[in-house]
Amino acid sequence: MSLRRLFNPESIAVIGASRHPEKIGHIILKNLVDYGFKGKLYPVNPEAGEILGLKAYKSVLEIEDEVDVAIITVPADKVLQVAEECGRKGVKFLVVITSGFSEAGNEEGERRLVEIARRYGMRVLGPNIFGYAYTPNRINATFGPKEIAPGGISFLTQSGALGIALMGWTLMEELGMAALVSLGNMSDLDIVEISKYLADDENTKVITIYLEGLKPGSGKVFIEEMKKVIMKKPVILIKAGKSARGSVAVASHTGSLAGSGKVYEAAFKQAGILEAETIEEMFDWARAFSLLDLPRGDRTIILTNGGGVGVLATDAAEFHSVHLVDPSSTLKEKLKKTMPWFGSARNPVDLTGGAVADNYVQALEILENSDEVDNIIVLYCRTAVLDPVDLAKRLIEARKTMTKPLIAGFVGGEDVAKAIKLMNKNGIPAYPSPERAVGSLAAMLKYKKFKERLASAS
Ligand code: ACO
Repeated sequence: MSLRRLFNPESIAVIGASRHPEKIGHIILKNLVDYGFKGKLYPVNPEAGEILGLKAYKSVLEIEDEVDVAIITVPADKVLQVAEECGRKGVKFLVVITSGFSEAGNEEGERRLVEIARRYGMRVLGPNIFGYAYTPNRINATFGPKEIAPGGISFLTQSGALGIALMGWTLMEELGMAALVSLGNMSDLDIVEISKYLADDENTKVITIYLEGLKPGSGKVFIEEMKKVIMKKPVILIKAGKSARGSVAVASHTGSLAGSGKVYEAAFKQAGILEAETIEEMFDWARAFSLLDLPRGDRTIILTNGGGVGVLATDAAEFHSVHLVDPSSTLKEKLKKTMPWFGSARNPVDLTGGAVADNYVQALEILENSDEVDNIIVLYCRTAVLDPVDLAKRLIEARKTMTKPLIAGFVGGEDVAKAIKLMNKNGIPAYPSPERAVGSLAAMLKYKKFKERLASAS
C-alpha cells in the first residue's frame, strides 16, 4: 500500500485521547487541532463525552465515517485490542506511540501487533514513537512543540527525544520542515520505505536521518534501495554509536545493532548518502539543499570584505575539494571596477573592509553574468561602514534575478545573527562562519557527483 494516505489523510482518530491536558493522548490531539489539521479528527476514549470541543467516541468502531490514520496512545496492554478494532473498522495506518514492546523485551507483543496489522491490510508506524508531522497538510501528530516551521526538509529519527528537541531547534534556526517521522522500533514501516515515499514527495527537497542502527541482515537491501532514493533526492544521515562505548549505548537504547562505524561509512558511501558528523552539520547541509537548486558546475568564487575570512574559506574549499576558479583577466578587469585599487580581483575577490552594499551587488551582477563561474559564496565581516542587515536585504533583492547558487557566511555579533536569520527566511542559505558556508556548498557538489556516478553505473 502506498504511504500517500499516511501523509495525506482525510481523517485521523486519536485512540486514548485523554481528558487530562498533561497526558500524551491529550497533547497529540491538541497539537493536531492547534496546528490546523483540516481533515476530520476523532478522539476515542470510552470514558469521555467530549474532548477539546470534539465529540469523543467510545471505540473506533463507533465512528460513522472512514478513518485513514489511527494514532494509538493507550497503554501497551490495550494496544492489541485497539489494533484489532482498527482492523475491523478498516483503518489504513496505525501510528503507535505506546512504549513497552520489543525495546522493553516484549517481542511477542510487537510480533502480534504486526500480525494483526497484516491480517487487516494495515501498516504500522512505531511502536515506541513520538508521532509524525507533515507540514503541507498541517499535521502535527506529535507530543512535541505545537509549532513547526514549514519548508523542504524531511527528518526521520530513531531517537524520539532528539526528534522532539530538534523540533524547537529547527524553528529557532529558521529550518523549514516538510515531514518529521519518529521511527521507533520500526516493526513494519522502516527508514527505507519512508525514504522511498518521501523521494517522490513534491514538498520534500532533502531527507535527513538520525540512525542508530539497521536490523541485522538488512544492509544490502538498504544500500540498493537508498541508491534509488538518492537518484531523486539527497539524503543526509548522522550515524550515532560509531565509537566503541557509543555502540553499547545504542544497544540499550533502541536495541539496534550499531555495528562497526567503518562498515556503515562504506555502506553510506556506496549508497550515495551524505554522512554528517554532527547534528549542526546535517542541518547546515540540509538548509542549502532545501533553499537552492543543485549547482550546474563546480567552479566556485568567494566574494568578501575581509581577507582573513577569505583565507579561511579558501582553506575549507581545499579541504572539501571545492574547485575555486581562477578568474580570467577580462573577468578580473570587470571586478576591479567594484573595489578600491588595493582590493583583489583574484579568488577570493576582496572588496576590502571599506566595502558597502553597492560594491557587493555590482560584483554579484558581474559574477552572475560570467560564464566562468557556477557558484558564489558571499562572506562578510562586521564593519562600521556596512550594516549586516542592510547587506542581507540587498542580497535578498539581488538573488531574485540570479540563477546561480548563492551561499552566505557572515561573521559578527547580534546584528549579524539577525542578518543570517533574514537571509535564511528569504532563500539564501546563510551561516555564521566561512567554513560552514563552504562545507554546505561542498555537500551539494558531493551529492551531484554521487548522483552522476550512480547514473553512469546504472
Ligand atoms: N480506547 C480508547 N481510550 C482508552 C482505552 C481504549 N480502549 N482504554 C483507556 N483509554 C483512555 C484512558 O481512559 C485515558 O484517558 P483519560 O486520561 O481521559 O482517562 C487514555 O486512554 C490514556 O490512558 P492511560 O491509562 O491514562 O495511559 P497514559 O496516558 O498514562 O499512558 C501511553 C499511555 C502514553 C501510551 C504510555 O503507555 C506510554 O507508552 N508512554 C511512553 C510513550 C513514549 O515515550 N513513546 C516513545 C516516544 S519517543 C521518546 O523518546 C520521547
